[in-house]
Amino acid sequence: MNEKLWAGRFSKALDDSANDYNASIRFDQRMYKEDITGSMAHAAMLSATGIISAEDGNAIQAGLEGILSDLESGALQIDLSCEDIHTFVEQELTRRIGDTGKRLHTARSRNDQVAVDLRLNLRARTDETAELLKRLIRVICEKALAYADAIMPGYTHLQRAQPVTLGHHLMAYAWMFLRDLGRLQDARGRMNLCPLGSGALAGTTFPIDRDMTAKSLGFDGACPNSLDGVSDRDFCVELAGALALIMTHLSRFSEEIILWCSWEFKFVELDDAFSTGSSIMPQKKNPDIAELTRGKAGRAIGNLVTLLTMLKGLPLAYNKDLQEDKEAIFDSFDTAVMALTVFSPMLETMRVRTDNMRAAAAKGFINATDCADYLCAKGLPFRSAYKIVGELVAYLIAEGKTLEEASLEEYRRFSDLFAQDVYEAIRLENCVKKRLSKGATSPVLVKQQIEEALSRL
Ligand code: ARG
Repeated sequence: MNEKLWAGRFSKALDDSANDYNASIRFDQRMYKEDITGSMAHAAMLSATGIISAEDGNAIQAGLEGILSDLESGALQIDLSCEDIHTFVEQELTRRIGDTGKRLHTARSRNDQVAVDLRLNLRARTDETAELLKRLIRVICEKALAYADAIMPGYTHLQRAQPVTLGHHLMAYAWMFLRDLGRLQDARGRMNLCPLGSGALAGTTFPIDRDMTAKSLGFDGACPNSLDGVSDRDFCVELAGALALIMTHLSRFSEEIILWCSWEFKFVELDDAFSTGSSIMPQKKNPDIAELTRGKAGRAIGNLVTLLTMLKGLPLAYNKDLQEDKEAIFDSFDTAVMALTVFSPMLETMRVRTDNMRAAAAKGFINATDCADYLCAKGLPFRSAYKIVGELVAYLIAEGKTLEEASLEEYRRFSDLFAQDVYEAIRLENCVKKRLSKGATSPVLVKQQIEEALSRL
């Protein structure tokens, strides 16, 4: 077992079970790069302020650079018997450059060190996720443009309700993902303050320059309170919240794709490259990618609850509970990144059966509202028109006819305001075209929506 950074005070080594339980290197090793970059910034500041000599500062820089490049090339392996990534890097540095390496931890604690590592790591992942979201939004906009006037049934209660276009339906998701993008950007802005220099909790007696380290690590400034600096994990919660919502949106979209792939709907067909078969039923083609996305949303939601629960009872400042932040938030990012990575090409290659959508739209009286609106336009109060059309629909259901198939004579049995032009009024293409209110489903407006969404990127 490696010597602990804190071994001096203790007369025996940690019990093996306690050591395994306590160690975080298994999951914090992925922050090796941020740990080294953070240490380089700290060392540069220590030497610039004269806290350590320039010579020591240079030796530490060179040592850390060597460790980073050896880790990246594979020449150096992370020693998993170390307690955490911070211990490993410091130990390796001291192995390489001797006692000078031991000066690196001057005016620093693992408490501010881990906080800076985590912010740096999550900042990069936030940017990565934002790029994937933008790509997905672009794919949605392209598909929406291609199907800006493809008619499908719009649903409420999963009952056919009113006609919409597929382009309009798809764009609803584009707006959800645009909001997600905004949430990530907002969280990034608030997160981008540097905790380094908070020390263990109270700051330090050394004349450090916190603005220098903050600036060199790309932060907008230094966290204003050292206690908050080491114990704040709000950024994890905010990001986990944004990621849970991204997964929730992907899950809703997945649910629709799963339905649309069924023989009952057959509105779309997924490309073979994004579908799976059955080990026993030769005919099967399953939307596993969409199902898995719907399933994985649960993890992202769980991680958010994990983080909030971890924080809710914590007194200031650092408590070891905070070590539980990483697995949760890393898993949320891993999950969302994987889901977004596969979702965009799945959507891009999805074939749309506009014929089946149009056929489904022809059934279910989804133009009944338009029929009532027609009577309204002829002067009837809406509630009266609504009642007449309700009676007409009940009659047609019994007759097994649609509104298109009813004769004018049948229409006029319910109201003598009906005339030949009712057929134009209830034609689905017209129903969609005439919905010109702001944000409505008319193809011209859908095209404007797409333009606007793309301009937000
Ligand atoms: N592995 C620890 C964490 O993730 C690093 C900070 C340790 N600090 C301490 N005082 N034990 O939170």
